[in-house]
Amino acid sequence: MTILAIETSCDETAIAISKNGEILCSLIASQISTHKEFGGVVPEVAARMHIETILPLITEAFNQTNITHNNIDAIAVTKGPGLLPSLLIGVDTAKSLAYAWNKPLIGVNHLEGHVYSTFIEQNKVEFPLIMLLVSGGHTQLILMTDHGKYKILGETLDDAAGESFDKVARMLDLPYPGGPEISKIAKKGNKEAYAFPTPLKRKPGLDFSFSGIKTEARKYILFHDNIAPQQKADIAASFEYSVVSILLNRLQEAAELHSPKTIAIAGGVSANTLLRDTFLHTFAETFPNAQLIIPEMRFCTDNAAMIARAAEEKYKQKEFKKLDLTANSREQL
Ligand code: KG4
Ligand code: ZN
Repeated sequence: MTILAIETSCDETAIAISKNGEILCSLIASQISTHKEFGGVVPEVAARMHIETILPLITEAFNQTNITHNNIDAIAVTKGPGLLPSLLIGVDTAKSLAYAWNKPLIGVNHLEGHVYSTFIEQNKVEFPLIMLLVSGGHTQLILMTDHGKYKILGETLDDAAGESFDKVARMLDLPYPGGPEISKIAKKGNKEAYAFPTPLKRKPGLDFSFSGIKTEARKYILFHDNIAPQQKADIAASFEYSVVSILLNRLQEAAELHSPKTIAIAGGVSANTLLRDTFLHTFAETFPNAQLIIPEMRFCTDNAAMIARAAEEKYKQKEFKKLDLTANSREQL
């Protein structure tokens, strides 16, 4: 089974080719340097850049793998959620190629793609699986009982975890995207320099809230008339530590409730080294019988390998889409 996968939900044009579970190539053309000067992604600019890049990148993927369109079994594409102008370029390209090459078309939900990033290069993943999905737009705790079977156990009531990193980074005059930048300067900071409140549970359950600590960060930043690099580093370290603690505390609560065989973290924020190291270290002690998975760094942020991996399961189920497939910017998992 050979899949050509396309992902254009935001500001990365990504193409991957997988064969029987193995990722043969995963290419990413990032637009970050263009959007940086605007402090965030400009959807219209992103769509134009996807148009310019997508076909050359598909050709490059074929060249690198010595695969031609004759050898692929299906074309997979991210159909949502994401920025509509960006999604449409991927979906329309996938539909055109599926029609021209007479191949089945597979639509993949972007969040489901992140879920399947944890299945890449794993021999076996056992269910039930508890997943913390942390990206720029989503923060969810998911119980997965089988392929394609999800229950949302909790989600953010306000900002997503990645979004809170990006917003606090902007307050600290750090470039977009903020997560990696906060993480970089946090390494020189003291995580105990500033106290961030533990968010109160507004209702019982496993929901998250990040707006309180974002406001707290703003208070600390405004408190200094002329903020010094060390103070920025201290705020970044304290903030990062607080977000990681909130995420892992909720993940632990969910795991205690559902006795999973596998516990995993995925999405852009799972590239955060403090989150990765703390998860692997503390959960190995607390849940010695569970398999712990966090994807390789290159599969944490947006990529097409995860779309290919998710599409393989859909191919097995013959879950194909017709050529009237449309992108849905708000599609749920
Ligand atoms: O999954 P992703 O690439 O795109 C979405 O689907 O949203 O996630 C992007 C998010 C951004 O908010 C970015 O700041 C955050 O992931 N991020 C990080 C790190 N790398 C990316 N957050 C914290 N630490 C990082 N190292
Ligand atoms: Zn994503």
